[in-house]
Amino acid sequence: MNHLLLDQLNQIHKQKLNLPGNVQVKSPGRINLIGEHTDYNDGFVMPAAIDKSIYAVFSKSHTNSYIYALDAEADHTFSVKDTLVPITDGGWKNYVLGVVAQLKDKGLPLGEFSMIFGGDIPIGAGLSSSAALENAVCHGLNELFGLGLTPKEMIVLSQKAEHEFAGVRCGIMDQFASMMGKKDHAFVLDCRSLDHTYFPVLLDTHEFVLYNSNVHHSLASSEYNVRREQCEQGVARLQSQGFAIQTLRDVSQDMLESHKNSFDPLIFKRCLYIVEENRRVNQFAQTMAANNLNEAGDILYQGHQGMKTAYEITCPEIDFMIDFTRELPQVAGARMTGGGFGGCTLNLVKKDYIDTLTADLNQAYQEKFGKNITPIRVTLDNGVETIAS
Ligand code: GLA
Repeated sequence: MNHLLLDQLNQIHKQKLNLPGNVQVKSPGRINLIGEHTDYNDGFVMPAAIDKSIYAVFSKSHTNSYIYALDAEADHTFSVKDTLVPITDGGWKNYVLGVVAQLKDKGLPLGEFSMIFGGDIPIGAGLSSSAALENAVCHGLNELFGLGLTPKEMIVLSQKAEHEFAGVRCGIMDQFASMMGKKDHAFVLDCRSLDHTYFPVLLDTHEFVLYNSNVHHSLASSEYNVRREQCEQGVARLQSQGFAIQTLRDVSQDMLESHKNSFDPLIFKRCLYIVEENRRVNQFAQTMAANNLNEAGDILYQGHQGMKTAYEITCPEIDFMIDFTRELPQVAGARMTGGGFGGCTLNLVKKDYIDTLTADLNQAYQEKFGKNITPIRVTLDNGVETIAS
């Protein structure tokens, strides 16, 4: 819990609005251990909420609604009665407005409000700061106005806000992980049924360490939507061959391989990656549960290879960081985590080797790309919470 930041937000609330906040919320970012781009194919993912969060302080307002972002040192005033549309290059504002628009669409009794927020989730690092913000808004307004939404309703609503106001046709993983995380646990989520099973992640010898490549790829959201369309094309191809399938979740490797010739090769390799990645999630969960870290690490490397060559969502910096670890016996495995085209790698590293790895990797990265990596140490944490004042 970042008490310092929360205190600061409360002070700003008091200064700007001349009254104390009524509701305080902590809404975490997430890491994904494995299962990348499988969520929008109704498949499996294995994420966890982390101890890096968006914090927000809310109060009711008798005039307009007022939102203030500490990181950007910027604010925005609007009325919930306005017709809300995405703001061009609106950045953080669109995540807030998007959620408000969804709540209005549901006909919920929303009043005017103030919200002061800040966070300690690195932005653009693939750790879902945007989903954390959406969930913070949704949960905060749910509490403030007693809207009666369930966590699952809020998750779906936040996801829809991202589709409509940020233009990213994301799956459900990020909002789900941020909302439903559990301290010291990751969970396997079936993105079709939304059934989820928690797995304790408390390792004696190793730790999951993140390294931020500090690459924030501008193509990320457009390429993301392209991948989603390519998966849909693959499904349409198999449907046209008579298969009664809904999504790639329903597709087996045999089904795909036996119709390979009717596929555009690019679409085929995208689909094969998803089918294989779904299988990897369940394999990984089992090997972790059996504390078989070397095998689990191999699955992480396989996942990365798939993202690099078949799904093509990595970048040279990230691939360099993964290759650097491959021959090191102290690193069980590594892969990029998150939507791709930059962001962080997730490394399963022997605890007593982390400092050495960080220094060596940083030096090699610096020599090759002329910039630093940023190590990010995280613990697995609870999902969205109201914080008592
Ligand atoms: C982004 C999206 C998620 C998911 C990941 C890739 O984080 O928001 O829904 O698709 O990319 O696994």
